[in-house]
Amino acid sequence: MNKQSLRSNDLKQITVSAPGKLMLLGEHAVVYGRPCIVTAVGQRMKATVELLEKPLFQLNAPDVQITDYKKPMDQLGIGDIPKGAKFVEIAVKNYFISQSTSEVKKMRLHLGGVNVTTTSEFSSQFGFGSSSASTVCIVKALSELTRTKLDNRAIFDLAYKTVLDIQGKGSGFDVAAAVFGGTLYFVIGGKIIKPLRINNLPLIVGYSGIKFDTVRLIDEVAEKAKKYPSVVDNIYDQIARLVDLAQKAILKSDFIALGELMNFNEGYLATLGVEGKKLAGMIYAAREAGANGAKLSGAGIGDCMIAIASEDKKQAVEDGITAAGGEVIDFKTNVEGVKIE
Ligand code: MEV
Repeated sequence: MNKQSLRSNDLKQITVSAPGKLMLLGEHAVVYGRPCIVTAVGQRMKATVELLEKPLFQLNAPDVQITDYKKPMDQLGIGDIPKGAKFVEIAVKNYFISQSTSEVKKMRLHLGGVNVTTTSEFSSQFGFGSSSASTVCIVKALSELTRTKLDNRAIFDLAYKTVLDIQGKGSGFDVAAAVFGGTLYFVIGGKIIKPLRINNLPLIVGYSGIKFDTVRLIDEVAEKAKKYPSVVDNIYDQIARLVDLAQKAILKSDFIALGELMNFNEGYLATLGVEGKKLAGMIYAAREAGANGAKLSGAGIGDCMIAIASEDKKQAVEDGITAAGGEVIDFKTNVEGVKIE
């Protein structure tokens, strides 16, 4: 496929990319109004989006086993939608409902359609936020193609709405990382999206190989909060305090303090019941091998853990994580947000 093709001075096709994310501190508490810190990772989701002359929605997303999925534009969001197609399809639908340039109106009158191909540099298994990143790519691409020129804030709002329409829950930190990139101090729904200007964040990341449903874990924690409201609320408050201290530590590149705060955070997550045996083994192995600190990243039980260590301890920490059954994944942190390729 051509990278970009122009017809009668109109852009008809574009490729955009958005990064995955890693939660650094504050997961779960962020769902209840406390802040978190997230970094964008250098493994990207790419989407090539083409405007069609016929009223058809087409999707190829080989990474999530979607091949040649098609439906009429007036059927968007209707009927059974395969899991791998949901975020892209609802993003396209929400985009056309909410915007009003002449190009968008043409689509709404079913005089045109959209063809999307997504590819990912990372496995959707890792929990790096592939669904949110592809949602962000679609909104950005359509905004360029139909000349609404949405700014990053508007892209965030529309992509977050799409994620909520599908999942019903979530703070939107993953959407913010995909849109804005870098390392962000974030409060639910984008009430605060504050970039932390830093040069490096020497993280070590271990993948557990376990998949667990995020919404289920949010629900399990909510059950505990219902039963023991003052206990759980207090835990969230403590997490908020350590996230604020971690923000300062990150800005000063004080990775000793950051490691200690990560350890505190892990203790609270274990108390909430989301640590999981395999992740715990990897986290303790990283600490025993000399990491300044280690914790799970994300909803817990599965996906990834993160550790921070000085350069001279890096290899030992990676070996420890591998010996505990984890897979060390190597990539950049603090990378650029959504962009045109
Ligand atoms: C999941 O990766 C992190 C949670 O805090 C949920 C969210 O913030 O959307 C558990």
